[in-house]
Amino acid sequence: MQKDLGNYRKSYEKSELTEGSIKENPLEQFQKWFYEVEASDGVDEPNAMTVSTIGLDGFPKSRVVLMKKYTHEGFIFYTNYKSEKGRAIAADPSVCLSFFWPNMERQVIIKGNAEKIAENLSDGYFESRPFGSQLGAVVSNQSDVIGSREVLEKELEALEKQYEGQTIERPQHWGGYLVRPISIEFWQGRPNRLHDRIRYTLQEDHDWKIERLAP
Ligand SMILES: Cc1cc2nc3c(=O)[nH]c(=O)nc-3n(C[C@H](O)[C@H](O)[C@H](O)COP(=O)(O)O)c2cc1C
Repeated sequence: MQKDLGNYRKSYEKSELTEGSIKENPLEQFQKWFYEVEASDGVDEPNAMTVSTIGLDGFPKSRVVLMKKYTHEGFIFYTNYKSEKGRAIAADPSVCLSFFWPNMERQVIIKGNAEKIAENLSDGYFESRPFGSQLGAVVSNQSDVIGSREVLEKELEALEKQYEGQTIERPQHWGGYLVRPISIEFWQGRPNRLHDRIRYTLQEDHDWKIERLAP
């Protein structure tokens, strides 16, 4: 079986990224792009991002999670601390986040270090989640091998009865990570494969060095 995709070709012509138009701070540049993507209404979940970790088996692994907040400090997502990614981060906090917004022909790649956010912040977010999502977090030992879907559904059913009319406390093994960036690269597709790539790198004096990269 094979399929040749050599003819899949597209010219990127939507926008450009110039030294004269970018912000000095990459998080502000991120915010500018994020607002533009939101306003374009052409991406279902603009906050969906790929997070790559260095696994305990030595392999990188990428998976999509939802960014739930960004601030001047970095990017926050929520997950199970005992999941494969949680265990990877505990051993090595170096991660890479990436966003692809196809309708805007844009990509953002962030390298940084992940750290658990304060417990009260995870509590606050957990409380804001719908009951079903809270139960899901309790029932699922994310990334563990399970016998069948039925096992999960039975456990969920039991928990639904157990917690009926009650508030559910955040499980200790579920919470947020803040990724503090050390470099952020913005990629804007351009015609003839001469794409714009601008990379910000954090310096020791906490300033950001700005460089253009060859496409
Ligand atoms: C659109 C989308 C959003 C997702 N959001 C999250 C999320 O916010 N947190 C999370 O733990 N998993 C999320 N997942 C599931 C992850 O991709 C992944 O399956 C899960 O976190 C287990 O990963 P791990 O075994 O590598 O730790 C999402 C998946 C998709 C496709």
